[in-house]
Amino acid sequence: MTKPLLSALKGETTDHVPIWLMRQAGRYLPEYMKVRARSKDFLNFCYSPDLAVEVTLQPVQRFGLDGAIIFSDILVIPDAMGQKVAFEPGRGPVLEALRDPRDVDNLDRESLRAHLAPVYEAITEVSKNLADTVTLIGFAGAPWTIASYMIEGGSSRDFAQLKSWAYGAPESFNALVDILVDAVADHLCAQIEAGVEAVQIFDSWAGVLPEDAFETWCLGPIKRIIGRVKALHPGIPIIVFPNRAGFFYERMARDSGADAVSIDAMVPLNTARDILQKLVTVQGNLDPIMLVEGGTPMIEAARRILDALAPGPFVFNLGHGIVPQTPPAHVAALVDEVHRWRK
Ligand code: CP3
Repeated sequence: MTKPLLSALKGETTDHVPIWLMRQAGRYLPEYMKVRARSKDFLNFCYSPDLAVEVTLQPVQRFGLDGAIIFSDILVIPDAMGQKVAFEPGRGPVLEALRDPRDVDNLDRESLRAHLAPVYEAITEVSKNLADTVTLIGFAGAPWTIASYMIEGGSSRDFAQLKSWAYGAPESFNALVDILVDAVADHLCAQIEAGVEAVQIFDSWAGVLPEDAFETWCLGPIKRIIGRVKALHPGIPIIVFPNRAGFFYERMARDSGADAVSIDAMVPLNTARDILQKLVTVQGNLDPIMLVEGGTPMIEAARRILDALAPGPFVFNLGHGIVPQTPPAHVAALVDEVHRWRK
């Protein structure tokens, strides 16, 4: 049996255009809310293999998506290193922020695989329960994005503390980045060994850095991670999502070693087709709020993306994650439209 998503990530053009959606398991699905209600704490939920398996499969079964992404979070890495991480309803993630180089020295670098064993267990279980046309995707945050939560202590508007540390004390900031390169590479390899067939690196905050800093703290660490993962698992495709990286997308596509780039909704389609798709498989890029609105505007926007990109190696996705107010019926209509598309 062929897997259209896996084929597209390996650079092939596919008859059936594959689609999966970032954050496809989540609060917009009533069946997710039901399972979510069984666990008060979000991280405990992520570390309960039975629950993680169930919510990973929900959107795949409901919509006939071509990919399943293992249910987890990018912040399991700081949690596994001993930093306090909590998810507060209505506030998002809250971390006990790293303040100085001593906090970096105190991170636990030995316990990652043991702490994240439930994630790997869930992956193995999901892979036994997937249709043989569906591709299982693992993921991790990129060092810059994980560091942003570790230093800001949560979400941020301007990343002033993160940037101040990186610009003002690059030596100790680089020590943190090196630790995260090791952790992310190891976590991706462990997911592959447990059964994922492709991985995605989320650099959600790649778009806030000037040129030199982008090279040093987004592109450089991602390239090192990809080198490590490819050395051990050369056949596993790697997708990189440098969210809102604008003019830097081309360098990410050319120099990171990734097999695919996931593009945000602001990347022009002709740039994606004429520049990025000549280098790698392209994934994207419907605006998540188009999916909230649905109807003719959504279908027309999806067709413009398909007409531009589906003739080359392409995976349909959103430009960023599904938002909670999305009507599930709009997701069904989108999947149908993508699967009906023909050259
Ligand atoms: O379906 C999937 O895509 C797999 C699961 C997944 C989650 N988070 C589950 C989740 C994935 C791939 C992520 C990635 C993630 N987590 C990113 C990168 C992608 C992006 O959106 O930029 C980031 C930055 C995080 C950190 C994070 N986790 C935040 C900022 C929040 C709070 C905001 C929110 O949406 O609530 C989370 C919580 C979270 N992670 C939820 C889910 C389904 C919602 C929490 C809940 O159900 O109570």
